[in-house]
Amino acid sequence: MDKKSEEYVKMAKAYHDKMAEDYDKPYHNEALGYDELYNYITDKIEWHYIEKYLPNKGLVLDAAGGTARLAIPIAKKGLDVVIIDVSEGMLKVAREKIRSQDLENRITLKQGDIHKINYPDNHFDFVLAQGIEYCPDLEKAVAELARVLKPSCYLELSADSLFFVTWAFLNEKNLEKALQVLDEGKYMSSGGDVWCWVYTPSQFREMCHKHKLKIEKITSGGGACAYIKDQSFRQAVFQNKKQLEKLLEIEMKLCEIEDTAILGNHPILIAKKQ
Ligand SMILES: C[S@@+](CC[C@H](N)C(=O)[O-])C[C@H]1O[C@@H](n2cnc3c(N)ncnc32)[C@H](O)[C@@H]1O
Repeated sequence: MDKKSEEYVKMAKAYHDKMAEDYDKPYHNEALGYDELYNYITDKIEWHYIEKYLPNKGLVLDAAGGTARLAIPIAKKGLDVVIIDVSEGMLKVAREKIRSQDLENRITLKQGDIHKINYPDNHFDFVLAQGIEYCPDLEKAVAELARVLKPSCYLELSADSLFFVTWAFLNEKNLEKALQVLDEGKYMSSGGDVWCWVYTPSQFREMCHKHKLKIEKITSGGGACAYIKDQSFRQAVFQNKKQLEKLLEIEMKLCEIEDTAILGNHPILIAKKQ
């Protein structure tokens, strides 16, 4: 990695060290359509696609695994998990959660950079990398994730979407940032001290071709409900179990239509190593 990318990784580390204690708290942002409804739908969909491709047993790498938000439910299914994350702060939160749930025998924590994974080739039975928009060199990261994955096993990753982030800036009436993200493929987070990179499904496809990964699915990861403007309707749906189930059914159907992938905030790629 070049010097500039190393600087970006340091910024991501410092940013996550600072916000680690708050990471698991529900996040709300009206411009992005983030609220209880959005979180409920996207969490369900995220887990649906993880569960669908997880093996029954074996060793999982949760790369940039943060506070073990996903590693814990995976470990509870009887799998062993290694979390690699650059932020000691995030790993500290993860360690406390893992200890309180008696999962120390199942989950190993390692501080490290996703662009340079300290494990041998063909080592893991499943590789997860959710929310890796803070990585300045996604191509290098994907090369590493693919290298440590065993053949015929799945890689699942997600990162910010070019379309969704541009749309969010338009909603914040910030035309300059909307244009910048389109031109540069990256944006400065609202806190102003870390860069995030955005992607299109075609870029995911190109990376798979380069690294001999066969695409199994590209999906929006849900969140069409972010586009519902009427706040009272959003709340009414969230409070009505039948309507909530119907919305989830609609979102799941949309997720199965690959053309909608760019519309989600965190499009998900699932690919198999050849
Ligand atoms: C959006 S959070 C996602 C955390 C977790 N995957 C989840 O879905 O809850 C991004 C995570 O990436 C980590 N991270 C950022 N840059 C990294 C890098 N170069 N190598 C490893 N981890 C990194 C951060 O510390 C943070 O924990």
